[in-house]
Amino acid sequence: MKFFVDTADIAEIRDLAESGLLDGVTTNPTLVAKAGRDFTEILKDICDVVDGPVSAEVTATDAKGMIEEGEKLARIADNITVKVPLTIDGLKACRHLTGNGTMVNVTLCFSAVQALMAAKAGATFISPFVGRLDDISQDGMQLIQDIRQIYDNYDSFTTEILVASIRNPVHVLKAALIGADVCTIPPSTLRQLVKHPLTDAGLQAFLADWAKTGQKIG
Ligand code: E4P
Repeated sequence: MKFFVDTADIAEIRDLAESGLLDGVTTNPTLVAKAGRDFTEILKDICDVVDGPVSAEVTATDAKGMIEEGEKLARIADNITVKVPLTIDGLKACRHLTGNGTMVNVTLCFSAVQALMAAKAGATFISPFVGRLDDISQDGMQLIQDIRQIYDNYDSFTTEILVASIRNPVHVLKAALIGADVCTIPPSTLRQLVKHPLTDAGLQAFLADWAKTGQKIG
């Protein structure tokens, strides 16, 4: 499973990239607004740090406008993935952009038939939002299971399932058990993945016992 980080905060991205565990980045207009910097500059900075796909979302709502914006964004760096919303215009833009060799992430997916449409439009990634479904008392992970089954039914589909709107480590666990291709994870949740109280307690005990030996390694 690939791990993307869901943020436009370059300091967070630099820090997490040092772990060697970061396979890509997703941004959206809300995250860009939160970062409070110029969008193009943010994307250049991120692409300098991360070699994997970096999602940059269009803001036009018609296919022509999305294609124009997408082509501009794609010129920033080879690893830019143009993010388009799951609308008919978004799917038209997806078909056009992927046809020209640009990676496309179709976002704001909330149903399995929407994911089917995105795969037919040749999307590189489909982004189902599990947390936002859970927020309205629907089962976000069931959607991932359904999309996995549909995509596995058809060899011609190459679209990767990019689980988005992740709120906690259990979302990541369940996505991995289902066999999703990618999780895009907020920085704090990504750091949480490595934590376990027994790891911390065990390490403290080992260090205390080691100190009693009075030895040093090397
Ligand atoms: C994905 O690409 C989106 O940026 C993101 O995961 C949305 O998450 P949210 O529902 O926490 O805003």
